[in-house]
Amino acid sequence: MLQGKCVVLGVSGGIAAYKAAELLRLLVKAGAEVHVVMTRNAQEFIAPLTFQTLSGNPVHTDLFNLIQEQEIGHISLADRADLVLVAPATANLVGKVANGIADDLLTTTIMATRTKVLFAPAMNSNMWSNPVYRQNQTKLEGLGYHFIEPAYGDLACGWQGPGKLPDPQVIFTAAQTLLGTNELSGKTVLVTAGPTREELDPVRFLSNYSSGKMGYAIARAARNRGARVILISGPVNLPEPAGVETIQVVSAQDMFQAVMAQAGQADLIIKAAAVADFRPKLRGAQKTKKGTAEALTVELQRNPDILAELGRQKGKRILVGFAAETQDLLKHAREKLVNKNLDMIVANDVTQEGAGFDGDTNIVRLLTGDGKIEELPQMSKDGVAEILLDRMIALLPSG
Ligand code: PMT
Repeated sequence: MLQGKCVVLGVSGGIAAYKAAELLRLLVKAGAEVHVVMTRNAQEFIAPLTFQTLSGNPVHTDLFNLIQEQEIGHISLADRADLVLVAPATANLVGKVANGIADDLLTTTIMATRTKVLFAPAMNSNMWSNPVYRQNQTKLEGLGYHFIEPAYGDLACGWQGPGKLPDPQVIFTAAQTLLGTNELSGKTVLVTAGPTREELDPVRFLSNYSSGKMGYAIARAARNRGARVILISGPVNLPEPAGVETIQVVSAQDMFQAVMAQAGQADLIIKAAAVADFRPKLRGAQKTKKGTAEALTVELQRNPDILAELGRQKGKRILVGFAAETQDLLKHAREKLVNKNLDMIVANDVTQEGAGFDGDTNIVRLLTGDGKIEELPQMSKDGVAEILLDRMIALLPSG
């Protein structure tokens, strides 16, 4: 996919530097010619030999190394690159570039290049939210530099929050998009995410534990591959992804209407939302008072099955559902695949540690109509999103 593309991979000094080796492997596997430039601090975390072995090219470390300069030189690297990709990008590195400081080979190459530059920042979450860092990033974004949002999770410093280097696969996909090799340009992807809320009265509702993380990861991944993305989201505590058309809904009925209004434009639909199957038959106009009652019975009525309706009107689009199960995973998933007329179903056993609701990871099996089952190991929801899109793209009619 990246045949003929020259990527300069800049590695600055953070604990996540080791993940750059996996990123390099993905770039090389896709056919890119990769030249690695390391800062002095990066070499404290990982040896240049690792990158040299994986890239098949000498690693560049020193601005004043005459042999390196003669062989390829920082200006020549800057000129030849189709993309300069910095992963991890420390606060120090971003700060230097934002302020015109070019005091080593990597910052000099970034300054000298006229091609696209993509930073994948990784740092402590307080540094990430520090106004000084924020100003530097905003300034660079205003100047046309590109950034990938860091992932949320446990950081090496012991804090929890945003600041982790995203999965190498996520960075790779963002690089692909900037290199214009994005497979989903011209396609519209509709994603649903999060729970629905079914109101009992003005202060109470029935819902579930969906955080929206799975669906939002899919929306971001599809956007990174160049798609127009429509995200229909139930109530969640996640920021709306930049560059994604997000429609907020509350109940299953709202979601049904929003999905049906948008589905006609979609080439691919992925229903990751956890939609309530039932809603209270009556919604109290006022807060229900407990009075002297010892028990209360709530009568429920069925909600529309959005995915089944999409299956009835499927046409040529690729339609993928999720199955959240607590028992007989494959049996139930297979039934949904067939009954809802899907191309693929993503089955997750939500009782498994590391799978399902709310966490940052999922453990899924992908079932297709031809009877195949692909079992994926526990991985980040971003990673699941990438593989899911790979498989959906393979199902698209060619041409
Ligand atoms: O949001 P997270 O915290 O990241 O958690 C992720 C997740 C567990 C919510 C996700 O991985 C998942 O499994 N989503 C589907 C949850 C679900 O509702 O499963 P289901 O087996 O009840 O529904 C099957 C499919 O039909 C789903 O694609 C669902 O969106 C769809 N459906 C269900 C009922 C309904 N009335 N309309 C629907 O469209």
